[in-house]
Amino acid sequence: MCGIIGYLGTREAYPLLIKGLKRLEYRGYDSAGIAVLNGSLSVYKKMGKVAVLEHYASGEKVDGNIGIGHTRWATHGIPSDLNSHPHLSNSGRLAIIHNGIIENYEVLRTELMAEGYVFHSDTDTEVLVNYFESVLLAEPNRAISEVISIALRRVTGSYAIVVLDHQNPDILIAARKGSPIVIGKGAGEFFISSDVNAIVEHTRDIIYPMDGDVIALTKNTIMVRNLEGGQWYVPEIKVVTNAVEELEKGGYASFMLKEINDQPVSIANCLAGRIDINGSRVVLPELDLFFPDINAVKRIIFVACGTSYHASLYAGYLIESMAGIRVQAEYASEFRYRDPVIDGSDLVVAISQSGETADTIAAVELAKQRGAGILSLCNVAGSSIPRLSSATIYLQAGPEIGVASTKAFTTQVTAVLLTTIYLADKKGKLTEERRKELLGGLQAVPELVRQAFALNDQVAAVAKRIKDAPTILFLGRGIGFPVALEGALKLKELSYIHAEGHPAAEMKHGPIALIDAHTPVVFIATQGPLYEKLLSNMQEVKARKGIIIAIVSTGDVRAKELADHCIEIPAVEEALLPIVAAVPLQLLAYHTASLLGHDVDQPRNLAKSVTVE
Ligand code: F6R
Repeated sequence: MCGIIGYLGTREAYPLLIKGLKRLEYRGYDSAGIAVLNGSLSVYKKMGKVAVLEHYASGEKVDGNIGIGHTRWATHGIPSDLNSHPHLSNSGRLAIIHNGIIENYEVLRTELMAEGYVFHSDTDTEVLVNYFESVLLAEPNRAISEVISIALRRVTGSYAIVVLDHQNPDILIAARKGSPIVIGKGAGEFFISSDVNAIVEHTRDIIYPMDGDVIALTKNTIMVRNLEGGQWYVPEIKVVTNAVEELEKGGYASFMLKEINDQPVSIANCLAGRIDINGSRVVLPELDLFFPDINAVKRIIFVACGTSYHASLYAGYLIESMAGIRVQAEYASEFRYRDPVIDGSDLVVAISQSGETADTIAAVELAKQRGAGILSLCNVAGSSIPRLSSATIYLQAGPEIGVASTKAFTTQVTAVLLTTIYLADKKGKLTEERRKELLGGLQAVPELVRQAFALNDQVAAVAKRIKDAPTILFLGRGIGFPVALEGALKLKELSYIHAEGHPAAEMKHGPIALIDAHTPVVFIATQGPLYEKLLSNMQEVKARKGIIIAIVSTGDVRAKELADHCIEIPAVEEALLPIVAAVPLQLLAYHTASLLGHDVDQPRNLAKSVTVE
């Protein structure tokens, strides 16, 4: 949430900052701004997307080799020009960009007001920059990096910040606590960014500061230390291999559409090297660490948010029934605050596309303190969650830039299924035949997903039918339930139509009251152990004149008789259902939102990578 970018070197900063902000825009698009220093500070900020800022600043002379930029997802204060970053201190000496939330900003603000400071915005960030200034005035002989460290020791909350000091025109100071920052090193230049993808076209030499670090940069030097003190040191550089082409739409109208279409390849990449050459065993050495003795792990707890939570729920169904190990799937945001009983016999598995979701990070930290082993299923290499984990299974989905998760979900499900087969095998629960069947099914999935793209026109027609509905229900049973939740989430976040996902049997306990002749009800009704029961639930909806849309297995006849619209997906083993069924549900959300004229890549109020709690 919020993208921050900084540059210091010999090139013109402005175009580099604007380009970086465009790459970071998926993290927040309420407003954007930049500050460039060249004798004086030029600050431009505007409510709206980066293109609005670019238009606003066009024709202005914004030159200088040092600058900072920000794209905002509003926390404190409405989206407006005034609340946009960068924020300046009262004297105009310091400019700051910030991602995070300062929790004690009210106390600081009251104190600063008593000192005579005046505030122009509603943000916690403006308080922070003035607090820096007040400490600077109180400690005039200290270096700016020292002043910022001292000030931050009193600050509670989360932040990734970059500070530009008018009186130190060759230095940028950054700091992070609970929010991400990466540094890119070029020849006589440095980049600071919320994520690697915004700078990887300029340099592949990346520094990943630790949580709680302060970073002092000149164009030729980098020094880091923990904000509590200690020695400054030169950090280690890692070379990344991210492909720049993957950051472009590649001819598609939107990142979402590209990422839906990426899925056959991303799933194949997720499987690559993880099934042995005979197709008969799962190869996940990452897991051996946790299971020298499979019976020592008494329980697996999945923690995640949003779509990743739906993949966790799927893991719960699958691992318990296939491997016979107790599993809990938990919203990370609830888990972290409910004083959970966990110990060294628990394995906590964090699922996260970004690896930076604040609540998931906090849940992992808590579980770690209490002695649980930590495994993560993650997409972004070098992100915080893998760094907190003892081992990570990388999803290998490639960058996901559309705010709504698509290929991350299907690769999460793929990774969960691989993990489940590994566990079931260790537990001696799989016959060779069953294991081969599951692995064969997995290997066929990329092709089945490709086949599911043929449903596009049919799904687009259904989107026309539902686009004006006031509310839509998504119902499924068993493994179909997390799929229903995911379908509802995708639809509501992109189309802004109210949508709810429920276990189909729960409908009678309340949601049925929503059904009338204008209510579409999407059933995940593929062949499986609960198919008959789903047909009965469909009857109940039909009796109330609801519009039935059924996702069914190819060749289905009985659901077809009941449904107003049937979408036939290739018949698959139940464990693979979420992957194949996700495709028409993603397309349904995509088409419905497009018909309503919404931006599918950057839906209202949302941002990717939720780095504040
Ligand atoms: C929905 C979506 C979100 C994320 C959630 C967790 O389409 O993208 O619900 O799944 O914010 O994000 P990660 O997986 O990055 O932890």
